[in-house]
Amino acid sequence: MEKTEAKNRIESLRKEIAEHNRRYYVENTPIISDYAFDALLRELTQLEALYPEFITEDSPTQKVGSDLKKENSPFKQYKHLHPMLSLANTYSIEELKEFDARVRRLTDKPFTYNCELKFDGTGINLLYRNGVLIRALTRGDGASGDDVTRNIRTISSIPEKLNEGFSYPPEFEIRGEVYMPFEAFDKLNYDKILNEEQPFANPRNAAAGTLKMLDSSQVAKRGLKCVLYHLIAPDSDFELHSQTLSNAFSWGLPISEHSKKCNTIDEVVEYITSWDTKRTSLPYPTDGVVVKVDELSVQQALGYTAKTPRWAVAYKFKPEEALTKVLSIDYQVGRSGAVTPVANLEPVQLSGTTVKRATLHNAEQMQILNIRIGDYVYVEKGGEIIPKITRVELDKRPADSRQFEFPKLCPSCSTPLIKDPEQAKFFCPNSEGCLPQIEGRFLHFCSRKALDINLGEVAIDQLCQKGYIKRIEDLYSLSDLQLLSLEKWKEKSVKNFRASLQKSKEIPFGRVLYGLGIKLIGETTAKALATGFKNIDNIIEANMEALTAMEDVGPTVAQAIVDFCSNEQNLQTIAALKKAGLQFESKSQAPVSDELKGMTIMITGNYSIPRETMKLYIEAHGGKVGSSVSSSTTYLLAGTKPGDSKIAKAQKLGIPIISEEEFYAIAAGGSDPPQKESATNDDSGDDNQLKLF
Ligand code: IVH
Repeated sequence: MEKTEAKNRIESLRKEIAEHNRRYYVENTPIISDYAFDALLRELTQLEALYPEFITEDSPTQKVGSDLKKENSPFKQYKHLHPMLSLANTYSIEELKEFDARVRRLTDKPFTYNCELKFDGTGINLLYRNGVLIRALTRGDGASGDDVTRNIRTISSIPEKLNEGFSYPPEFEIRGEVYMPFEAFDKLNYDKILNEEQPFANPRNAAAGTLKMLDSSQVAKRGLKCVLYHLIAPDSDFELHSQTLSNAFSWGLPISEHSKKCNTIDEVVEYITSWDTKRTSLPYPTDGVVVKVDELSVQQALGYTAKTPRWAVAYKFKPEEALTKVLSIDYQVGRSGAVTPVANLEPVQLSGTTVKRATLHNAEQMQILNIRIGDYVYVEKGGEIIPKITRVELDKRPADSRQFEFPKLCPSCSTPLIKDPEQAKFFCPNSEGCLPQIEGRFLHFCSRKALDINLGEVAIDQLCQKGYIKRIEDLYSLSDLQLLSLEKWKEKSVKNFRASLQKSKEIPFGRVLYGLGIKLIGETTAKALATGFKNIDNIIEANMEALTAMEDVGPTVAQAIVDFCSNEQNLQTIAALKKAGLQFESKSQAPVSDELKGMTIMITGNYSIPRETMKLYIEAHGGKVGSSVSSSTTYLLAGTKPGDSKIAKAQKLGIPIISEEEFYAIAAGGSDPPQKESATNDDSGDDNQLKLF
């Protein structure tokens, strides 16, 4: 390649990589596989090696990945006792053999390999002191990481205390991977899709995102798992890495059972080949094999480069892909009116399942893929719930194929579509008259996590088609005659429906709020809003400032609430549902004590418990939560990262500023702080059928 050609290619690769990074990290919607991404990065690394004069400081090859957002991270950061490094990757047996040859050149001592699965999650570093878990840090920038101990404690396989009767180093770090098994991932994304929230792109993103949640009780519900694979205990007398792992296992730590000691590189190749197939039947995601020199003395002699150990290498599996034909493209309208293109494919086998449909996300994605009906496309399912089309086989494009045109009218009600500038999606604005949107709202309202009403998709469709129900409140005035007109409905179904309708009147406000189907408001936000604002009237009256003051409510979500509450018809629905007897007020708890009676506490910053729980705690002890710092504020309770203006105002007015610990002492006379919510398993599956898959 000529120099100018190389320069151009380097620049275009950097742009492309930056765009994929943005999609991956910012939008959470990667459009190429990790494998394809790695290939781009490798091409850039190779070109930069040939033409070092073109290396720039901001090249993606020069940056070490980091999960730290230092400025406003709600997590405390700590240094790792030893840096957390990454691994060099290989993509072929040839490259793997080069690694083996390199190691043999660098040492003349005999050695063996320990082969392990490469778990596809997010790195974690646990610190144990005298057999007790002290801290859990994310990888961060390799030197220091976020303290996610509270979240890690919700993973049951990670022991708080090591087994007794064993001797372990008085202090050690053990590294591993926190991952999300496929089942938990599918459930999480199923719920997200049902709520029209952005699903996670893959189990790895889901694991990393979950580990960084602020509310540990939510983390506990998501089914994270952990496996540990690297013990660092420099002063101990272990000789082999595999020995450190089997010892760690006996101390009670979660270690993989699939590792294997290999004497030669051919045995390593055998291990890789067998797991390349076997891994598809594992219940959790893996993306390769890690090959480590087992002898710790040889490891030490080989040492490290700036980023990676010389004694280990990762062999990355190629994601399974299949070639199939696009038969047609459907455009589906969701509850919020968003129109999603879905490709109907010639059925093809992939990772043990038959793939018939794949989402195309939006018009922009279709353009990037340059996809047409009749095209042959590659489908990939790297652990994702939704199969992804990664590229078009242009050589197989039929001569007479025509470029696609995204519909201009709603495929259901023919209303002209409008583009949401922020989401790259087209929307049907006819929310009141477009059948899939209306039906979607009923389905959501009746779902188990909302009002749990005995009414399925078919019945809803029939009731809508007959014009018996249009708005949510109509459910409460259906006559027996109308219900009996439904296919297969007898007295018993009517009775069940009526009983569930009656029960829905006892469902707490948070779930009712969720059931209203406000755009972007998932279960957790709805619950937080219900607790924070107490009743629907306070929410209707709340302005942007009051809404965004809530944890987890950003301007977009706040705007969605304001928009919903300024729509006259929505207000009518709320009034009618209120009249029908639904809960629009949070039931207040009887006070636990009156230690805070007469006090107004203003809160700012983050605490060891979620802010909403803190508010409840104050109220349960007879106190009031203030809305701004004023002369009637008794204390300003300052957590980590408190608001500067609140602190300044309190100082000006001479209001005492207290820490979380001081507060507990005041509130409970020195007794224990509130316990975190119990780690219950949320196994209430939703029985609504997903239309997409
Ligand atoms: S050993 C210094 N072993 O893969 C050695 N890493 O791409 C550090 N990973 O950062 C890592 N399974 O997060 C090791 N059995 C395994 C692994 C593993 C998954 C992850 C880890 C690492 C990344 C490198």
